[in-house]
Amino acid sequence: MRALILVGGYGTRLRPLTLSRPKPLVEFANKPILLHQIEALVEAGVTEVILAVSYHAEDMEKELSVEADRLGISIVFSHETEPLGTAGPIALARKILSKSTEPFFVLNSDIICDFPFKELEQYHKNHGKEGTIVVTKVEEPSKYGVVVYKDNGQIESFVEKPQEFISNKINAGIYILNPSMIDRIELKPTSIEKEIFPGMAQSGQLFAFELQGFWMDIGQPKDFLTGMCMYLKALRQREPERLYQGPGVLGNVLVDPTARIGADCQIGPDVTIGPGAIIQDGVRVQRCTILKDAKIHSYTRVENCIVGWECTIGKWVTIEGMSVLGKDVIVKDDVYINGGQVLPHKCIAASVPEPSIVM
Ligand code: GDD
Ligand code: MG
Repeated sequence: MRALILVGGYGTRLRPLTLSRPKPLVEFANKPILLHQIEALVEAGVTEVILAVSYHAEDMEKELSVEADRLGISIVFSHETEPLGTAGPIALARKILSKSTEPFFVLNSDIICDFPFKELEQYHKNHGKEGTIVVTKVEEPSKYGVVVYKDNGQIESFVEKPQEFISNKINAGIYILNPSMIDRIELKPTSIEKEIFPGMAQSGQLFAFELQGFWMDIGQPKDFLTGMCMYLKALRQREPERLYQGPGVLGNVLVDPTARIGADCQIGPDVTIGPGAIIQDGVRVQRCTILKDAKIHSYTRVENCIVGWECTIGKWVTIEGMSVLGKDVIVKDDVYINGGQVLPHKCIAASVPEPSIVM
């Protein structure tokens, strides 16, 4: 089977991390976001993945060709000369996607869940129509595409980012589509949510598949951390042996085996610590992602934030309030940061008491 992943734009909402690394390669729970998706696709029998990108992605191509070899699949980059939206890329990849009459998966690149690809394929083949959208329930549906469907799953209407409440069932950003639907898309910038799905729904060709378990769009820092908490909780239920245990560990914590944690620390709940990271004595970390090779010196407290690759945080520092430190940021001893978005390679010697961008 084939899958197309909408990798798209520059990931501006995940800045400053995405200034150093393309969003799909930012590690979520110690693994690039894209790899969570690709590995789940491979498990469901996908052998060819098309990455739809609207910018130059040389770094990504290099890194992913290694993964493609490891997984024994082919990863093809489909480059847009102008951003084609969420449907245009499907038309652009028409040749590959319609090599057979087999349905293909389409994914937004910024979502995380327990990917139900096998069950989705089965469901799609059973109803026999052109497309199936995975739906999930959220509290704030106005940020998403809202789906209204009958008891048998047939979608009656699809409304992208509705102003008024219609339903709390939303598009989870995962589809399975028959190649025949590509005829509905012209090769120009087109939104699948606004221009294609409403028509498919109207002609009775679209079904909804209800997702079980957690789901999150992790395209912005706050949601990234919420998604991490959900992911770790699910991991506790399914593969608790992968979670870290040790003195001073609270709740769900994931630590790469090459990371080092000092004495008298309090790590957790809800923390992931990447490869090569060093956490010195007496450090407290809660609800954070600490990326590869970051170093946190003694008696520092980090809460509710993302610490970028190769950052060095001094002693007796406090970082909180959804701060995001870009790559290779240095924070001097005793500094306080609250809600700071710090650009890569900065050195912070004075406190940042209010949320702001530090450049
Ligand atoms: N290749 C390509 N080209 N990809 C694109 C383009 C483009 O021009 N524009 C957006 N994308 C990709 C994004 O990178 C992302 O993976 C996906 O398409 C969706 O775009 P977002 O910008 O993240 O959309 P959203 O989060 O506001 O809404 C979408 O996702 C929701 C679920 O998270 C919609 O599909 C909603 O209906 C859905 O509920
Ligand atoms: Mg999104």
